[in-house]
Amino acid sequence: RIVHAVQCRLAVRGKGPPILANTPPEDRTQNIIIAIDGPAGAGKSTVASRLAGRLGVPYLDTGSMYRAVALLALRDGLEPPLDERAATHVINLMDRHRIEVEAANGATVILVDGLDVGTDIRSPECSLMASAVSAIAEVRKALVPLQRELGLQKGGVMEGRDIGTVVFPDADLKVFLTASIDERARRRHGDLREREMDTSFEEVREQQQQRDLQDTSRADSPLQVARGSVVVDTTGLTLDEVVERLFEEVVRIR
Ligand code: DC
Repeated sequence: RIVHAVQCRLAVRGKGPPILANTPPEDRTQNIIIAIDGPAGAGKSTVASRLAGRLGVPYLDTGSMYRAVALLALRDGLEPPLDERAATHVINLMDRHRIEVEAANGATVILVDGLDVGTDIRSPECSLMASAVSAIAEVRKALVPLQRELGLQKGGVMEGRDIGTVVFPDADLKVFLTASIDERARRRHGDLREREMDTSFEEVREQQQQRDLQDTSRADSPLQVARGSVVVDTTGLTLDEVVERLFEEVVRIR
């Protein structure tokens, strides 16, 4: 029922720079699946999209799918925490609206009822609501199969909280990115300021901690280090250094 309401389309747009120059094109990253998990603010999105661009494979930000559901909930006046009644409300909203996701080389495009909501889903309110809706088992049950389908079609770099544990436990490469809470809050605060969203550092840090707690303690698919993951603490590293490190891991496994 819900799956039917959520439509998914895959379109690989643009071309990343050539990779793995010594490998024939057909063998390069054919359907390679790279899972990147970790807490909010660890640098996952930037690292995952840059790595995907460098490898010339799709990039899928699975958090944007939970954020799209969160946006529907916010627009309908719901507020976290969500009780059972609110959870049913969220599931009904997913039935009534259409969420489409497109995994592109450099970005994940997310549409709600045909409109690009890429900016709206980035607000602090939407972050907290995304964490709340992602704890609803039926929401995950609807979104996870779509994520698997997208991954199986073309492979790519997939980023989220449960990619290596639940969505693709057999991924070619599993990465757990983390960083200290202060560093993560600093980065998120910087991002928000760049987008002229006025929030204090303390507020961002507190919201980040709240999300960490929710994302790691929920019953369904909590954030955990997947077995066999390469764990990278990005505190004090530049994003370029992290991308380079992961690129080397990809070269090693190919
Ligand atoms: O990565 P993000 O901050 O955009 O994710 C928003 C929320 O969605 C996050 O707090 C937890 C949830 N999420 C999830 O439960 N599973 C995923 N694979 C991705 C995100």
